[in-house]
Formats: sequence, C-alpha cells, structure tokens
Amino acid sequence: MEFIDLRSDTVTRPTPGMLQAMMSAEVGDDTLGDDPTVSCLEAYMAELLGKEAALFVPSGTMGNQICLRIHARSGEEVIAEAQSHILNWEAGAAAGLSGIQILPVAAQRGLLTVDQIQSAIRDRENVHYAPTALVCLENTHNFAGGVVYPLDLVAHIAHFVHSQGIPFHMDGARLFNAAVAAGVSARDYSQYFESVSVCLSKGLGAPMGSVIAGSRDFIRQGRRYRKMFGGSLRQAGFMAAAGLWALQHQIERLAEDHQRAYALALGLAELPGIYLDLETVQTNIVIFDTSGTGIPSAVLAEQLKAEGVLVSSFGPYRARLVTHLHITDQDVATTLSRVRHVITTLVGTTLPVR
Ligand SMILES: Cc1ncc(COP(=O)(O)O)c(C=O)c1O
Repeated sequence: MEFIDLRSDTVTRPTPGMLQAMMSAEVGDDTLGDDPTVSCLEAYMAELLGKEAALFVPSGTMGNQICLRIHARSGEEVIAEAQSHILNWEAGAAAGLSGIQILPVAAQRGLLTVDQIQSAIRDRENVHYAPTALVCLENTHNFAGGVVYPLDLVAHIAHFVHSQGIPFHMDGARLFNAAVAAGVSARDYSQYFESVSVCLSKGLGAPMGSVIAGSRDFIRQGRRYRKMFGGSLRQAGFMAAAGLWALQHQIERLAEDHQRAYALALGLAELPGIYLDLETVQTNIVIFDTSGTGIPSAVLAEQLKAEGVLVSSFGPYRARLVTHLHITDQDVATTLSRVRHVITTLVGTTLPVR
C-alpha cells in the first residue's frame, strides 16, 4: 500500500537533484578537517545565519546538546519552555551527557515572555539554586504546533536575557519554516542568539544532518564536543552536499507545506469532536485533540494506518500531522476524507462520543 506519511517532516527522501549533488560531491576526511563539501556547507550556513562560523553535526539533538555543553557547566541550569524538544525529546541528554538541569517554563502556545524568563532566572547569591547558565527558545515550536516566534518578541527577550549576562540559544530545527512564515530572513532571527542549531533533515528534505552556528571560538569548542559525543564523521561531504542543495533549492517551497498544513487544519477543525487551535497552525505542523470524539489518538492512528494514512499520536488524545515535500494537495483531500470516514465509523460503532 502507498502511504500518505504525515508522521513528521523527517520522512522525506532525497529528490533527484539532491541525489545528483550527493553523488558528485567532492569529499575528504572531515575529522581531519579536509572535506571540502562539509566546509562549503558550514561556510554557507554561517553566511545565511550571519555568524562567524558553523559546524555540521549528525542530528538536531547533537547540535542542541553540543551548544548546551558549551554554555553550561555541570550543576548549572538552563531555562527552556515546558514542551520543548531539548527537555522532552532528547533522551535526558542534558543531564546524562553534561550534568545540566533544565528548568521548564510553561508558556501559552509555546511562546516564552520576558516576565516568565525574569521569574525563572535564579538568584546567584542564593546557594540553594543551580545558577542560570542559558535561556533556550525553540523556533518554530514543534509541540506547540509549529508556532513561530514574532521577531519583535525575540528581540525583546534577547535584550533582557543579555542584560542579565546570560547567553541565548535557539533550537532552530525548523528555523527556515519560521523565517518563511514570518517573511523575514533566518539571519534576522539568528542575530539575537549566541548559538543556533538548524536541521537539514526536516522540512528542508536532506537525509540527515544539522548545523550549529556561533562565534569562531564557540565553534572551535563545538568541534571538540562533537568528537566527544561521537559525531565527528569522515567522508561526510556526501551528506553535506544534500544539505547544501536543500538550502539552495528547498527553502522557498516551505510556504507550500504551510498552506497544505493550514488546509488540513481547517478540514479537521470542522469534524465533530476534534479540537484544534487554528492560531497555532502557522507552519507545517498540525496538532489536534481527539477527546471530544472519545477516540484515543493511538486508536485513530492505527485505524488511519489501515486506510493508508500515517499520523503520530502523543498522549491519550493528542495527534500530530506534519506536511513536507512529498505531500500534495490531493494527499490533503484524501487524508481529510479518510479521517472523517474513520471517525464516523469508530464513533458510530464501537466508541461513544463523550
Ligand atoms: C524542535 C526540534 N529540535 C530538535 C530536534 C532533533 O532533531 P534530530 O531528530 O535530528 O535529533 C527535533 C526533531 O524533531 C525538533 O523537532
């Protein structure tokens, strides 16, 4: 069966142009510093983000964790939004790899405010506290539904965080989705952060890899931690070529993913018992709540799979759909009709509406 795969934007396969770029990449040993394609990707990303230097890493998780390790010491604290990837979806890496404690701050629609950050920063004079070493912001915010930080809010937070002598990190796994949706450049965002991590393997469509960017000294330290965390690769240029190609060809098209996600959200919001906050549907992610139908999201996901549609289920009644470069307008229409069919069947036969 041919599936419509909406589980994540990480499921994409390389396009013919990308494959061609990979196959013709000039490569070397990147751990020895002589893979020209990796160096080219790093220089390209540093330029896009307006930073002195950048470093190619195997995953977004490793990118974030290298940055955390550089900013914070063991026993120190990092402020992050309560639903953030760094806190919830990185296998406890901040604690496990670096002895760092994360202080979760729950924010409406995932967007932290200056007041919330101000209240979360620890008093350095009080020996009971783990000193605040870093503030993290996730843009777009995955589990808030792909929400985009307004640029002026980022500027405002950055001003405050820096006035406290604290560095600021952006988990920009989907930074280009944010930039396209906000109508600004990635650099407009990244100027406010000491470090930025950007994924090539999400909406941009590369098979793997992320890039972190910062000052030259920051990246010099990052290179050592990348080795320590096991992410220093050899002929990585084959993968870097895919990332470079994605940056050169697949940024603007993210707007199409955003339009399709919104069309999906509008259709889902009309279904009885489905709740979704349309305000959060700003990029390529749609999160919705099935509790009004009485159908657990895992059951919905299983039934949809039998109908050829793959979605993610989180928690008892939360499901997520993510659009990407293989999802067409027809897939959106088909998905909506199959979701409607599955819900009607389940509610009508086995499960009561609450
Ligand atoms: C916001 C965010 N940050 C970081 C990551 C980690 O990326 P990776 O899966 O490459 O480790 C993800 C992955 O989905 C993410 O959504």
